[in-house]
Parts: sequence; structure tokens; C-alpha cells
Amino acid sequence: MVITETDRLVLRPFELSDLDALTPILADPEVMRFSVSGPWSRERTLRFLQGCVADYAEERWGFGLWAVVHKRDAQLIGYCGLSRFADVDGVAEVEIGFRLAPEYWGRGLATEAVRAVRDYAFEHLGMRRLISMIEPENSRSIRVAEKAGMVREKEIWKWGRPVLVYAVFAGPSPM
Ligand SMILES: CC(C)(COP(=O)(O)OP(=O)(O)OC[C@H]1O[C@@H](n2cnc3c(N)ncnc32)[C@H](O)[C@@H]1OP(=O)(O)O)[C@@H](O)C(=O)NCCC(=O)NCCS
Repeated sequence: MVITETDRLVLRPFELSDLDALTPILADPEVMRFSVSGPWSRERTLRFLQGCVADYAEERWGFGLWAVVHKRDAQLIGYCGLSRFADVDGVAEVEIGFRLAPEYWGRGLATEAVRAVRDYAFEHLGMRRLISMIEPENSRSIRVAEKAGMVREKEIWKWGRPVLVYAVFAGPSPM
């Protein structure tokens, strides 16, 4: 099953059998540099995959964080997708989240994935607003958010530290 695709990428639901491919990505200190939890163990990544699979169920969210697969060699290179947050500065929000393996950075792939997820959320899920919460020092992610048409809205306190909220709205002329 394909959620959405771009010129170079396919986004599909995760399966538990993705554990071997995803574990080294989420265990990489560079990938997890801005994560409060730091690099993840194989067991933590398994819990993540179980959570994603549960989120896809219609009786739960009906969406979630999806596997990003490079079409060139069918390699799993990270994740990009949607998460619900019950309380972001007092408001329920849906966030676009993204993490890719470092060997794929700097080629526009995250931007491609984020734009595709944004369009899928607006066109197929009927969402009207999406956010990304990004640490102020995470310049690469800020750039990706900007290239996906997201605009800095506010700085909030979350996970015990300042976080920037970038937002994009459904409507005419997304970038
Ligand atoms: C953030 C991440 C997904 C970006 O992936 P990517 O495929 O390299 O992103 P893109 O190539 O689409 O775009 C990266 C942009 O950042 C820019 N960039 C790269 N290094 C940078 C730096 N040190 N400072 C500022 N901008 C930088 C690139 O030049 C590019 O912008 P440009 O197209 O205007 O030149 C990837 O670095 C990652 O997985 N990081 C760790 C996980 C993470 O922080 N996730 C986000 C949590 S909010």
C-alpha cells in the first residue's frame, strides 16, 4: 500500500518487519541530536513501530508516521508523516515529523517528503492546518519547514526547552 509518492520517494505504512532497517537510523546520534530521548535502542524502535501501526487504525488516528522509501533501490531511508498532539500551547495540533538517514541528507529528499505529506493531509485527510515543532538550533529542519511553505508562528516551552512552532494552512498557493 502506498500513502503518497514523489519523483524519488514512496511513502508507505510501516510494518514491524522494518525494524532491521529503521534501527540503525534512529540509533544514529546525528539523526537524534535534537531528540529529548537521544539515540534509540532496537527495543525503543520496535515500540515506535508498534505505535505507528496502531495509529494507522481508523478507530485511532487513521494516519501516522510513514516509512520513506527511496525508489532507486527500494531502501528504507527514514520516516515522514503525521502525529497528533493533544496540547501544544493549549491547542490540539497535527504535526509533520521527519527524520532521514544522514547519508541521504542534502539532496532535497526531506523537503520532497514533507511537501507530499502536507499535500496528502490537506487533499485526502481534510486537514486545514499542520505544524512542525523544531528546536531553534535545528537549522536544517527549519529550512525544510520553510521550503514546505511553513511559517514561524511562535516560540513555546515544550519538553523542558524552547521550541519553535512552524505552521502551514490549506489554501491557495502552497509552495
Ligand atoms: C532535517 C532533515 C530531515 C533534513 O533532511 P534533508 O534531506 O537534508 O533536507 P533537504 O535536503 O530537503 O533540505 C535541507 C536544507 O537545509 C540546508 N542546510 C543544510 N545544512 C544546514 C545547516 N547546517 N544550517 C542551515 N541550513 C542547512 C540545505 O542547504 C537545504 O536547504 P536549501 O535547499 O535551501 O539549500 C535531516 O537533516 C534529519 O533527518 N535530521 C535529523 C532529524 C531531525 O532533526 N528531524 C526534524 C525534527 S523537528
